Amino acid sequence: MKISILNKGLFDQKASAVALGFFKEDVKKKSFPSNWKKGLTSKIATVFSQKDFIGKSGEAYLLYPGDKAFPSRILLFGLGEKKNFSWEKYRRAVARMTKRLDATESSSITIALPGEKSWAEFNPLKAVREGAQSILLCRYSFNQYRGATKKKEPTVKPVHFSLVRKGNSSLLDKEIKKGIILGESTNLTRDLINHPSNYLTPTRLGQIASKCGDKKKLKTRVLGPKEIERLGMGGLMGVAKGSDEPARFIIMEYLPNKGLEKPLVFVGKGITFDTGGISIKPSPNMDQMKYDMSGGAAVVGAMAAISRLGIKRNVVGLIPTTENMPSGTAYKPGDVLKMYSGKTVEVLNTDAEGRLVLADALAYSLKYDPAGIVDLATLTGACVVALGEHAIGMMGNDEKILKAVEEAGNNTFERVWELPMWEEYQEQIKSSIADIQNIGGRGAGTITAGAFLKEFVEDKPWVHLDIAGTAWTDKEKPYHPKGASGVGVRLLTDLAANWKRNK
Ligand code: BES
Ligand code: ZN
Ligand code: ZN
Repeated sequence: MKISILNKGLFDQKASAVALGFFKEDVKKKSFPSNWKKGLTSKIATVFSQKDFIGKSGEAYLLYPGDKAFPSRILLFGLGEKKNFSWEKYRRAVARMTKRLDATESSSITIALPGEKSWAEFNPLKAVREGAQSILLCRYSFNQYRGATKKKEPTVKPVHFSLVRKGNSSLLDKEIKKGIILGESTNLTRDLINHPSNYLTPTRLGQIASKCGDKKKLKTRVLGPKEIERLGMGGLMGVAKGSDEPARFIIMEYLPNKGLEKPLVFVGKGITFDTGGISIKPSPNMDQMKYDMSGGAAVVGAMAAISRLGIKRNVVGLIPTTENMPSGTAYKPGDVLKMYSGKTVEVLNTDAEGRLVLADALAYSLKYDPAGIVDLATLTGACVVALGEHAIGMMGNDEKILKAVEEAGNNTFERVWELPMWEEYQEQIKSSIADIQNIGGRGAGTITAGAFLKEFVEDKPWVHLDIAGTAWTDKEKPYHPKGASGVGVRLLTDLAANWKRNK
């Protein structure tokens, strides 16, 4: 995808559609950058005077100047009030402008950004990075499975950013590249999730994980059923028993400071399809359970991004992956599993399978002596009920890492909301015959799932993110098409980039 800094005058390229972002304040004052041509600013000022465009956030007005001296299409775009500016509003604005101009016949797009001159706080480096990312994210579509109904793919229009005052162009180019890497990695994760489970099996997830990212720096190994059994991963094996698809345990190591610092370990739930097993789910919407590997897919995407960006932090990704199926060989309610950590678990509901596969991966992560562990999982329906699709449910055992994850969530607008981890919840998962049981009764389903995981991280700093609500959206948003959102990729990458050494 061609995204670059415009190296000629904003209005010199006639073939391009030009998007001009306006804050409400500037519309009111009819103030324009001094280098804009009078002939054009007077046309725009006329639109302002008619009040057909007031600069409200998300408002758009397409203007055809009808004058050979100017580009044929000019999109006036509202950025809202300057004092209410946020980078999330900016990302959404860039996405909306791009989608609007993609729908025109013009051969390229130019987006004019407010510059240092008009506004000191506006960081042009961040603006081009977040802008490039937003463009990739909003253009994502998933139509590989259309046959006869396939539409012709539109040609991808190159996009230029025009800055009021030119900065250091090699620095700007570098930031655009970063934005593109983040966009591509998130889109990789979206693809993995959107693929149906008859394509995206645990085996295929392992193959794709092995091929992604910077191949020189990212080392991926994939363990099969024999090795999983030899390691004694009773949780992963127990869930996998009912499926004809062999389980995989994916290990992705990115260690640029090998031996010099403890790594961050990311763990992602990789249930490629969750029927519920013998405690089978109802049929309506069961098709959606192909997204039960969203945590694993986010870890794959984040490892790809972190290695390609060359972030100078040791990071390991672990993905336990299998289907959860009912069959003659499936595990059953009442079964007791011996986990990798040595703890025993009484299975009271085979649909609470995510925590079983994660428990083995979390216990395995301890062999890295991690500086921090973050797991991501579409773990509970209760989290969807509590927070909907707007926040990730967060739980953990260490203030520092909780804070760091919260900050990463705010930076990327993949926001988290913390739930309590009091001792009483731990009581809810005590078993009458084994060490613990895999469900905690009616109340606080999201927290008791977190409490279960907590049993497997010993005293290491750990955060659990329940992404059941945020990983999938039924409603299109400015830079999230329907379906997989790719949540977690940007959050984890931001966390790794800002992680302080040997915390
Ligand atoms: N994958 C589901 C959780 C889920 C539900 C994710 C809806 C996304 C949307 C998980 O494995 C599950 O089935 N959890 C059960 C736990 C219960 C049996 C304690 C649930 O939430 O109902
Ligand atoms: Zn389940
Ligand atoms: Zn599940």
